[in-house]
Amino acid sequence: MAEATQKERPILIDGMGRTIVNLRISVTDRCNFRCTYCMPADNVEFMDRDELLSFEEITQVARVVSKMGIYRLRLTGGEPLLRKNLPTLIQMLDGLEGIEDIAMTTNAFFLKDQAQALKDAGLRRLNISLDALDPEKFAHVNRRDCLQQVLDGLAAARKVGFKSIKINAVAVKNFSETEILKLVEMGRSEGFEVRFIEFMPLDADQIWERDKVLFGHEILDLINQRYELVPIKDSLEIGPASEYSFADGKGKIGIITAVSNPFCDYCNRIRMTADGKLRTCLFSTNEHNLKELIRSGATDGDIEQRIRAALVTKEPGHKINLDSFERPVRAMHAIGG
Ligand code: 5AD
Ligand code: SF4
Repeated sequence: MAEATQKERPILIDGMGRTIVNLRISVTDRCNFRCTYCMPADNVEFMDRDELLSFEEITQVARVVSKMGIYRLRLTGGEPLLRKNLPTLIQMLDGLEGIEDIAMTTNAFFLKDQAQALKDAGLRRLNISLDALDPEKFAHVNRRDCLQQVLDGLAAARKVGFKSIKINAVAVKNFSETEILKLVEMGRSEGFEVRFIEFMPLDADQIWERDKVLFGHEILDLINQRYELVPIKDSLEIGPASEYSFADGKGKIGIITAVSNPFCDYCNRIRMTADGKLRTCLFSTNEHNLKELIRSGATDGDIEQRIRAALVTKEPGHKINLDSFERPVRAMHAIGG
Protein backbone atom coordinates (compact mmCIF):
# COMPACT_ATOMS: atom_id res chain seq x y z
CA MET A 1 0.00 0.00 0.00
CA ALA A 2 1.47 3.36 -1.01
CA GLU A 3 2.02 5.72 1.88
CA ALA A 4 1.24 9.13 0.38
CA THR A 5 1.66 11.96 2.82
CA GLN A 6 -1.10 14.47 3.36
CA LYS A 7 0.98 17.02 1.48
CA GLU A 8 1.30 15.12 -1.75
CA ARG A 9 -2.32 14.00 -1.88
CA PRO A 10 -4.63 15.91 -4.25
CA ILE A 11 -7.75 17.29 -2.58
CA LEU A 12 -11.14 16.45 -4.03
CA ILE A 13 -13.85 18.98 -3.21
CA ASP A 14 -17.57 18.66 -3.94
CA GLY A 15 -20.01 21.40 -4.93
CA MET A 16 -20.62 22.28 -1.27
CA GLY A 17 -16.94 22.58 -0.36
CA ARG A 18 -16.74 19.20 1.41
CA THR A 19 -13.56 17.15 0.97
CA ILE A 20 -14.26 13.68 -0.43
CA VAL A 21 -11.80 11.00 0.66
CA ASN A 22 -13.80 7.78 0.66
CA LEU A 23 -15.35 5.56 -2.03
CA ARG A 24 -17.69 2.74 -1.00
CA ILE A 25 -17.75 0.00 -3.57
CA SER A 26 -20.61 -2.49 -3.60
CA VAL A 27 -19.43 -5.77 -5.15
CA THR A 28 -22.78 -7.59 -5.22
CA ASP A 29 -26.41 -6.91 -4.34
CA ARG A 30 -26.86 -10.52 -3.22
CA CYS A 31 -27.02 -11.53 0.40
CA ASN A 32 -27.45 -14.75 2.33
CA PHE A 33 -29.35 -12.85 5.06
CA ARG A 34 -32.70 -11.09 4.71
CA CYS A 35 -32.44 -8.42 7.41
CA THR A 36 -35.84 -6.85 7.98
CA TYR A 37 -34.43 -3.30 7.77
CA CYS A 38 -32.82 -3.98 4.40
CA MET A 39 -34.27 -6.77 2.25
CA PRO A 40 -37.64 -8.41 1.63
CA ALA A 41 -38.16 -11.92 3.05
CA ASP A 42 -38.25 -13.52 -0.39
CA ASN A 43 -38.71 -12.96 -4.13
CA VAL A 44 -35.77 -10.61 -4.37
CA GLU A 45 -34.82 -9.61 -7.89
CA PHE A 46 -31.06 -9.53 -8.12
CA MET A 47 -28.87 -7.98 -10.79
CA ASP A 48 -27.80 -10.21 -13.67
CA ARG A 49 -24.22 -11.30 -13.23
CA ASP A 50 -23.07 -9.59 -16.44
CA GLU A 51 -24.40 -6.32 -15.01
CA LEU A 52 -21.79 -6.47 -12.24
CA LEU A 53 -18.57 -4.59 -12.78
CA SER A 54 -15.63 -6.94 -13.19
CA PHE A 55 -12.63 -6.67 -10.86
CA GLU A 56 -10.75 -4.91 -13.67
CA GLU A 57 -13.56 -2.38 -14.10
CA ILE A 58 -13.79 -1.73 -10.36
CA THR A 59 -10.03 -1.28 -10.21
CA GLN A 60 -10.13 1.15 -13.12
CA VAL A 61 -12.59 3.40 -11.23
CA ALA A 62 -10.55 3.06 -8.03
CA ARG A 63 -7.38 4.03 -9.92
CA VAL A 64 -9.08 7.12 -11.30
CA VAL A 65 -10.42 8.28 -7.92
CA SER A 66 -7.14 7.52 -6.18
CA LYS A 67 -5.49 10.11 -8.42
CA MET A 68 -8.25 12.61 -7.60
CA GLY A 69 -7.79 12.54 -3.82
CA ILE A 70 -9.74 9.53 -2.60
CA TYR A 71 -7.50 7.34 -0.47
CA ARG A 72 -9.94 5.20 1.49
CA LEU A 73 -12.04 2.38 0.02
CA ARG A 74 -14.74 0.27 1.63
CA LEU A 75 -16.16 -2.88 0.07
CA THR A 76 -19.83 -3.52 0.73
CA GLY A 77 -22.71 -5.60 -0.64
CA GLY A 78 -25.28 -7.02 -0.24
CA GLU A 79 -22.84 -9.40 1.37
CA PRO A 80 -19.42 -8.80 -0.19
CA LEU A 81 -18.11 -12.25 0.74
CA LEU A 82 -20.61 -13.77 -1.69
CA ARG A 83 -18.51 -12.35 -4.51
CA LYS A 84 -16.07 -15.05 -5.63
CA ASN A 85 -12.33 -14.48 -5.18
CA LEU A 86 -12.74 -11.24 -3.25
CA PRO A 87 -9.12 -11.36 -1.96
CA THR A 88 -8.01 -11.01 -5.59
CA LEU A 89 -9.92 -7.73 -5.89
CA ILE A 90 -8.49 -6.52 -2.59
CA GLN A 91 -4.99 -7.26 -3.82
CA MET A 92 -5.64 -5.33 -7.03
CA LEU A 93 -6.96 -2.33 -5.08
CA ASP A 94 -4.15 -2.53 -2.54
CA GLY A 95 -1.66 -2.26 -5.39
CA LEU A 96 -2.95 1.18 -6.39
CA GLU A 97 -0.72 4.07 -5.58
CA GLY A 98 -2.59 6.50 -3.34
CA ILE A 99 -4.92 3.97 -1.70
CA GLU A 100 -4.03 3.95 1.99
CA ASP A 101 -6.89 2.06 3.56
CA ILE A 102 -9.24 -0.73 2.47
CA ALA A 103 -12.15 -1.70 4.73
CA MET A 104 -15.17 -3.97 4.36
CA THR A 105 -18.66 -4.19 5.81
CA THR A 106 -19.85 -7.78 6.17
CA ASN A 107 -22.40 -9.91 8.01
CA ALA A 108 -19.48 -12.19 8.97
CA PHE A 109 -21.27 -15.43 8.07
CA PHE A 110 -18.46 -16.51 5.72
CA LEU A 111 -15.68 -14.82 7.62
CA LYS A 112 -14.46 -17.82 9.57
CA ASP A 113 -12.97 -19.38 6.44
CA GLN A 114 -11.93 -16.19 4.69
CA ALA A 115 -10.55 -13.91 7.41
CA GLN A 116 -6.91 -14.86 6.90
CA ALA A 117 -7.00 -14.60 3.09
CA LEU A 118 -8.69 -11.19 3.30
CA LYS A 119 -6.13 -9.90 5.75
CA ASP A 120 -3.25 -11.25 3.67
CA ALA A 121 -4.67 -9.58 0.56
CA GLY A 122 -4.50 -6.15 2.21
CA LEU A 123 -7.85 -5.63 3.95
CA ARG A 124 -7.21 -3.52 7.02
CA ARG A 125 -10.49 -2.87 8.78
CA LEU A 126 -13.80 -4.65 9.20
CA ASN A 127 -17.28 -3.54 10.15
CA ILE A 128 -19.41 -6.48 11.15
CA SER A 129 -23.19 -6.21 11.24
CA LEU A 130 -24.56 -7.64 14.48
CA ASP A 131 -27.84 -6.32 15.81
CA ALA A 132 -28.69 -8.77 18.59
CA LEU A 133 -26.92 -11.21 20.90
CA ASP A 134 -30.10 -13.02 21.82
CA PRO A 135 -30.32 -15.91 19.29
CA GLU A 136 -34.07 -15.53 18.81
CA LYS A 137 -33.86 -11.82 18.31
CA PHE A 138 -30.99 -12.32 15.89
CA ALA A 139 -33.08 -14.83 13.90
CA HIS A 140 -36.00 -12.44 13.90
CA VAL A 141 -34.20 -9.33 12.69
CA ASN A 142 -31.86 -11.07 10.24
CA ARG A 143 -34.41 -13.72 9.20
CA ARG A 144 -31.65 -16.34 9.56
CA ASP A 145 -31.00 -18.43 12.64
CA CYS A 146 -27.22 -18.27 12.66
CA LEU A 147 -25.91 -16.09 15.48
CA GLN A 148 -23.20 -18.66 16.27
CA GLN A 149 -21.69 -18.57 12.75
CA VAL A 150 -21.46 -14.80 12.98
CA LEU A 151 -19.79 -14.98 16.39
CA ASP A 152 -17.36 -17.55 14.98
CA GLY A 153 -16.61 -15.20 12.08
CA LEU A 154 -16.00 -12.38 14.50
CA ALA A 155 -13.65 -14.54 16.58
CA ALA A 156 -11.72 -15.57 13.46
CA ALA A 157 -11.34 -11.93 12.40
CA ARG A 158 -10.02 -11.06 15.82
CA LYS A 159 -7.57 -13.93 15.72
CA VAL A 160 -5.98 -12.92 12.43
CA GLY A 161 -5.43 -9.42 13.81
CA PHE A 162 -7.29 -6.82 11.73
CA LYS A 163 -6.24 -3.26 12.52
CA SER A 164 -9.78 -2.41 13.59
CA ILE A 165 -13.02 -4.35 13.99
CA LYS A 166 -16.25 -2.47 14.58
CA ILE A 167 -19.72 -3.82 15.17
CA ASN A 168 -22.68 -2.18 13.37
CA ALA A 169 -26.02 -2.57 15.12
CA VAL A 170 -29.14 -1.06 13.58
CA ALA A 171 -31.24 0.50 16.35
CA VAL A 172 -34.95 -0.26 16.08
CA LYS A 173 -37.51 0.89 18.65
CA ASN A 174 -39.12 -1.83 20.81
CA PHE A 175 -36.50 -4.27 19.61
CA SER A 176 -32.94 -3.11 20.23
CA GLU A 177 -33.40 -1.86 23.80
CA THR A 178 -32.64 -5.29 25.31
CA GLU A 179 -29.52 -5.76 23.16
CA ILE A 180 -27.73 -2.46 23.64
CA LEU A 181 -26.00 -3.13 26.95
CA LYS A 182 -25.16 -6.69 25.95
CA LEU A 183 -23.47 -5.45 22.77
CA VAL A 184 -21.70 -2.67 24.67
CA GLU A 185 -20.37 -5.18 27.16
CA MET A 186 -19.17 -7.57 24.48
CA GLY A 187 -17.42 -4.66 22.74
CA ARG A 188 -15.71 -3.60 25.94
CA SER A 189 -14.51 -7.04 26.89
CA GLU A 190 -13.34 -8.05 23.41
CA GLY A 191 -11.97 -4.73 22.18
CA PHE A 192 -14.53 -3.89 19.47
CA GLU A 193 -16.10 -0.48 19.00
CA VAL A 194 -19.87 -0.97 18.79
CA ARG A 195 -21.74 1.52 16.60
CA PHE A 196 -25.47 1.92 16.87
CA ILE A 197 -27.09 3.13 13.66
CA GLU A 198 -30.52 4.73 13.70
CA PHE A 199 -32.85 2.73 11.45
CA MET A 200 -33.10 4.60 8.12
CA PRO A 201 -35.85 4.50 5.47
CA LEU A 202 -33.90 2.20 3.14
CA ASP A 203 -35.70 -1.08 3.86
CA ALA A 204 -37.13 -2.95 0.88
CA ASP A 205 -40.40 -3.68 2.71
CA GLN A 206 -40.94 0.05 3.29
CA ILE A 207 -42.04 -0.49 6.87
CA TRP A 208 -39.87 2.37 8.10
CA GLU A 209 -41.63 4.96 10.22
CA ARG A 210 -40.14 7.57 12.49
CA ASP A 211 -41.75 5.75 15.45
CA LYS A 212 -39.65 2.66 14.66
CA VAL A 213 -36.33 4.46 15.11
CA LEU A 214 -34.53 4.07 18.40
CA PHE A 215 -32.91 7.49 18.54
CA GLY A 216 -29.33 8.24 19.50
CA HIS A 217 -30.28 10.08 22.68
CA GLU A 218 -32.37 7.08 23.80
CA ILE A 219 -29.44 4.76 23.18
CA LEU A 220 -27.16 7.04 25.20
CA ASP A 221 -29.71 7.10 28.04
CA LEU A 222 -29.75 3.31 28.13
CA ILE A 223 -25.96 3.06 28.22
CA ASN A 224 -25.66 5.87 30.77
CA GLN A 225 -27.73 3.86 33.21
CA ARG A 226 -24.70 1.64 33.65
CA TYR A 227 -21.69 3.51 32.29
CA GLU A 228 -20.50 7.07 32.27
CA LEU A 229 -19.64 8.21 28.75
CA VAL A 230 -17.34 11.01 27.65
CA PRO A 231 -17.90 12.54 24.17
CA ILE A 232 -14.86 12.34 21.91
CA LYS A 233 -14.23 15.74 20.37
CA ASP A 234 -14.76 16.30 16.63
CA SER A 235 -15.45 12.62 15.84
CA LEU A 236 -18.07 13.65 13.27
CA GLU A 237 -15.42 15.38 11.22
CA ILE A 238 -13.74 12.03 10.66
CA GLY A 239 -16.65 9.63 10.15
CA PRO A 240 -20.42 9.35 10.49
CA ALA A 241 -20.41 8.31 14.15
CA SER A 242 -20.53 10.52 17.22
CA GLU A 243 -18.07 8.69 19.40
CA TYR A 244 -17.89 8.38 23.17
CA SER A 245 -15.28 6.81 25.37
CA PHE A 246 -16.13 5.13 28.64
CA ALA A 247 -15.13 7.23 31.64
CA ASP A 248 -13.26 4.23 33.08
CA GLY A 249 -11.02 4.26 30.00
CA LYS A 250 -12.12 0.86 28.69
CA GLY A 251 -13.14 1.18 25.05
CA LYS A 252 -15.50 3.42 23.10
CA ILE A 253 -18.82 3.38 21.28
CA GLY A 254 -20.29 5.24 18.33
CA ILE A 255 -23.79 6.48 17.58
CA ILE A 256 -24.80 7.15 13.98
CA THR A 257 -27.68 9.59 14.23
CA ALA A 258 -28.53 9.44 10.55
CA VAL A 259 -32.13 10.42 11.26
CA SER A 260 -32.16 12.57 14.40
CA ASN A 261 -29.00 14.56 13.73
CA PRO A 262 -27.75 14.07 10.16
CA PHE A 263 -24.03 14.47 9.63
CA CYS A 264 -24.36 15.50 5.96
CA ASP A 265 -22.31 18.69 6.47
CA TYR A 266 -19.31 16.47 7.15
CA CYS A 267 -20.02 13.87 4.49
CA ASN A 268 -16.75 12.77 2.91
CA ARG A 269 -17.88 9.83 0.78
CA ILE A 270 -19.38 8.69 -2.48
CA ARG A 271 -20.66 5.26 -3.46
CA MET A 272 -20.58 2.96 -6.45
CA THR A 273 -23.19 0.22 -6.84
CA ALA A 274 -22.29 -3.28 -8.00
CA ASP A 275 -23.66 -2.42 -11.45
CA GLY A 276 -21.39 0.57 -11.72
CA LYS A 277 -23.67 3.49 -10.86
CA LEU A 278 -22.06 6.33 -8.96
CA ARG A 279 -24.23 7.66 -6.11
CA THR A 280 -23.26 10.89 -4.46
CA CYS A 281 -25.55 10.25 -1.46
CA LEU A 282 -27.04 7.20 0.24
CA PHE A 283 -30.41 8.77 -0.50
CA SER A 284 -29.69 9.92 -4.06
CA THR A 285 -32.60 9.64 -6.45
CA ASN A 286 -30.25 10.19 -9.37
CA GLU A 287 -27.27 8.04 -10.43
CA HIS A 288 -24.30 8.43 -12.77
CA ASN A 289 -23.75 5.47 -15.06
CA LEU A 290 -20.02 4.72 -14.95
CA LYS A 291 -20.51 1.18 -16.25
CA GLU A 292 -21.86 2.39 -19.58
CA LEU A 293 -18.97 4.81 -19.85
CA ILE A 294 -16.37 2.16 -19.04
CA ARG A 295 -17.90 -0.39 -21.42
CA SER A 296 -17.89 2.13 -24.24
CA GLY A 297 -14.10 2.25 -23.95
CA ALA A 298 -13.74 5.45 -21.93
CA THR A 299 -10.29 6.61 -20.90
CA ASP A 300 -9.34 7.33 -17.29
CA GLY A 301 -9.67 11.01 -18.21
CA ASP A 302 -13.28 10.52 -19.37
CA ILE A 303 -14.16 8.73 -16.14
CA GLU A 304 -12.52 11.44 -14.07
CA GLN A 305 -14.49 14.11 -15.89
CA ARG A 306 -17.76 12.28 -15.26
CA ILE A 307 -17.00 11.86 -11.56
CA ARG A 308 -16.05 15.54 -11.19
CA ALA A 309 -19.30 16.56 -12.87
CA ALA A 310 -21.27 14.27 -10.50
CA LEU A 311 -19.52 15.72 -7.47
CA VAL A 312 -20.64 19.23 -8.32
CA THR A 313 -24.20 17.97 -7.85
CA LYS A 314 -23.59 16.07 -4.60
CA GLU A 315 -26.64 16.61 -2.43
CA PRO A 316 -26.23 19.09 0.45
CA GLY A 317 -28.00 16.57 2.68
CA HIS A 318 -30.74 13.99 2.87
CA LYS A 319 -34.32 15.05 3.43
CA ILE A 320 -35.60 12.33 5.77
CA ASN A 321 -36.88 15.01 8.11
CA LEU A 322 -38.67 17.05 5.43
CA ASP A 323 -42.07 16.57 3.78
CA SER A 324 -40.30 16.56 0.42
CA PHE A 325 -38.36 13.36 1.30
CA GLU A 326 -38.36 10.82 -1.52
CA ARG A 327 -37.12 7.29 -0.89
CA PRO A 328 -34.48 6.03 -3.29
CA VAL A 329 -35.76 3.27 -5.58
CA ARG A 330 -32.96 0.92 -4.48
CA ALA A 331 -33.08 -0.75 -1.08
CA MET A 332 -29.94 -0.82 1.06
CA HIS A 333 -28.63 -4.18 -0.23
CA ALA A 334 -28.55 -2.81 -3.79
CA ILE A 335 -26.88 0.46 -2.77
CA GLY A 336 -24.20 -0.78 -0.39
CA GLY A 337 -23.90 0.17 3.27
N1 5AD B 1 -30.94 1.58 8.41
C1 5AD B 1 -29.75 1.66 9.03
N2 5AD B 1 -28.71 0.86 8.74
C2 5AD B 1 -28.89 -0.08 7.81
N3 5AD B 1 -28.08 -1.03 7.33
C3 5AD B 1 -28.74 -1.74 6.40
N4 5AD B 1 -29.98 -1.26 6.25
C4 5AD B 1 -30.12 -0.23 7.12
C5 5AD B 1 -31.17 0.66 7.46
N5 5AD B 1 -32.37 0.58 6.87
C6 5AD B 1 -26.69 -1.23 7.79
C7 5AD B 1 -26.41 -2.60 8.30
C8 5AD B 1 -25.08 -2.92 7.78
C9 5AD B 1 -24.72 -1.86 6.80
C10 5AD B 1 -24.38 -2.45 5.50
O1 5AD B 1 -25.85 -1.05 6.68
O2 5AD B 1 -26.32 -2.66 9.66
O3 5AD B 1 -24.11 -2.89 8.80
FE1 SF4 C 1 -27.62 -8.65 3.94
FE2 SF4 C 1 -26.45 -6.59 5.08
FE3 SF4 C 1 -28.87 -6.28 4.02
FE4 SF4 C 1 -28.57 -7.76 6.22
S1 SF4 C 1 -28.15 -5.53 6.01
S2 SF4 C 1 -29.76 -8.32 4.40
S3 SF4 C 1 -26.58 -8.69 5.94
S4 SF4 C 1 -27.02 -6.72 2.91
